[in-house]
Amino acid sequence: MPDFLTLDDIDVHGKRVLLRADLNVPVKDGKVTDATRIERLAPTIETLIGKGASVVVMSHFGRPNGKPDPALSLRPIIMPLRRALGGREIEFAEDCIGALARRVVAGLAPGQVALLENLRFHPGEEANSPEFARALSELGEIYVDDAFSAAHRAHASIAALAQLLPAVAGRQMEAELDALSAALEHPTRPVLALIGGAKVSTKLDLLHFLIGKVDMLAIGGAMANTILYAQGVEVGRSVCEREMVDSARRILALAAEHNCRLILPVDAVVAMELSSAAPSRTVAIGAVAADVMILDIGPSTVAGIGAALDEARTLVWNGPLGAFETQPFDRGTLSVARKVADRTKAGRLRSVAGGGDTVAALAAAGVGDDLSYVSTAGGAFLEWLEGRELPGVAALASASRKE
Ligand code: 3PG
Ligand code: MG
Repeated sequence: MPDFLTLDDIDVHGKRVLLRADLNVPVKDGKVTDATRIERLAPTIETLIGKGASVVVMSHFGRPNGKPDPALSLRPIIMPLRRALGGREIEFAEDCIGALARRVVAGLAPGQVALLENLRFHPGEEANSPEFARALSELGEIYVDDAFSAAHRAHASIAALAQLLPAVAGRQMEAELDALSAALEHPTRPVLALIGGAKVSTKLDLLHFLIGKVDMLAIGGAMANTILYAQGVEVGRSVCEREMVDSARRILALAAEHNCRLILPVDAVVAMELSSAAPSRTVAIGAVAADVMILDIGPSTVAGIGAALDEARTLVWNGPLGAFETQPFDRGTLSVARKVADRTKAGRLRSVAGGGDTVAALAAAGVGDDLSYVSTAGGAFLEWLEGRELPGVAALASASRKE
């Protein structure tokens, strides 16, 4: 794990802290539909306030392309943030730099919190502009990054700014990095990776990296169809990337080379179309008719993954195992989710999951709180699973070396 400093290593008393958060939460009709990222920010803000700091929260929201866009204002986040902080007042600055921002932060007393308007209203944010970072740095004396889910972006508030002020990780960043490194850097073995989703093509790097790291790799979702097809199995009209056959064969060879046990579907739930109304049935892999689609893993596959979960001491999970948004093709994913929760609650498994669909599937199974760690990160979680260096994490690491 990269070496980085945390809130425990720094004296913030009487200081103004610039806190990079990820308040890029899903909003529908002006209402936040999942406040997890906001709630997970609270411990960092509470800790800073408890130590006598004032806190200036900054975040991006959506993709406004460097221009102000009222539809992507952070204003609707004030109330949910306030709720997460037990009703605490929050000042709002209409701009994240310049006179408007300076006026709001200058008025903050220790214990007070301000939220700045969307960082991406300025092109300098995504350009990682040193001038924009400098303008931000004028608003505080210490930088805290609590936005693991944005750590894959080399943007000014994440990369350049960390070089300008003493920089430490917030509680959420610390928890993410602890959980992720416990799962892949120094895990209790055997380690099982469970990878689903639609496409092999988007997860090639991830599969390659994991094969070198884990003891068992279970593949589900439509991406398993591509692997089965590469083995010469009939997949009918299933979603399948036929042009990825060579890549899929390389994955099979690489797994054999690294002694990584591959767990592929042995049965499947098939139907003529992806619809709850379509009659579905379970068939063995090898007996998939030419006119049907594979839409979920079958019960024997669920049992096989269950056996691997009984053996595993560590699990990393990304991607649903079937078309889980459409019943009854959610069954495989939900059964596996419940099994993961049971093993974790029994103290037998350290389980880490991430990615939007995976988090939604865990919530649908009613086990969102029962894993060891569920990451709120999408892209950052995937890039971490690919073994890539995340700019936000690297910036904190280099900042800690300078101390
Ligand atoms: C996310 O929600 O994945 C992060 O906030 C990053 O957002 P982005 O994909 O727009 O950079
Ligand atoms: Mg994203």
